[in-house]
Amino acid sequence: PVVPDLAGRHVVVSAGGTREPLDPVRFLGNRSSGKQGYALARTAAARGARVTLIAANTGMPDPAGVDVVPVETAVQLREAVLKAAADADAVVMAAAVADFRPATYAAGKIKKKDNQDPEPITLVRNPDILAEISAERARSGQVIVGFAAETDDVLANGRTKLERKGCDLLVVNEVGERKTFGSEENEAVVLGADGSETPVPYGPKEALAETVWDLVARRLE
Ligand code: PMT
Repeated sequence: PVVPDLAGRHVVVSAGGTREPLDPVRFLGNRSSGKQGYALARTAAARGARVTLIAANTGMPDPAGVDVVPVETAVQLREAVLKAAADADAVVMAAAVADFRPATYAAGKIKKKDNQDPEPITLVRNPDILAEISAERARSGQVIVGFAAETDDVLANGRTKLERKGCDLLVVNEVGERKTFGSEENEAVVLGADGSETPVPYGPKEALAETVWDLVARRLE
């Protein structure tokens, strides 16, 4: 039996990967499927929470009993997160958000011209949503969780990122063949701003989600 330890709570989860358009047919994107974020949304709903799921390009059916807000770009994701976070007890940012977007959007499809080198793509910075909501908490006691997908020096990079972003918990997952992006399984260490480290062994994304909610629920008590 599931303990309804999130009953009466509003939690916000972001999932998927943002797409930053270049022209009407092309974008810069990433390999996030949204599975980890959807697992977080489903498990929170099962534990009694009211859940707002901000979904970036996931193409998955809406989980039952969850409010889904579809978005495409990092700027749209920011708007949706800020709006939903206003009365949230916890915010979990599992989405892979583009750090940069093309400086310009071509209203017509960019054409290939014979005998001409391609135009370079100039990028500009996107807002850092996790850092922003952590610095300006919408409610006191709000618990904010970030994710970090790393390829090397995983824990050291995670610790630095946790401090830079200012969130309460950071889930560090190593990019690998059968984990993180796109797969059904994951493996992670959850770092706490209090110095704690909670390892989560390789297993279904639901198991990692349950550990995240255990840690969040303890901080909300
Ligand atoms: O979707 P799946 O296929 O299931 O894969 C899950 C996942 C690998 C995408 C997920 O587990 C994960 O690790 N998500 C974060 C990916 C990442 O590399 O994040 P980051 O290191 O670029 O960003 C760190 C944190 O800041 C994240 O919580 C991110 O949501 C947030 N961020 C990043 C950039 C930005 N401009 N604004 C942000 O809020």
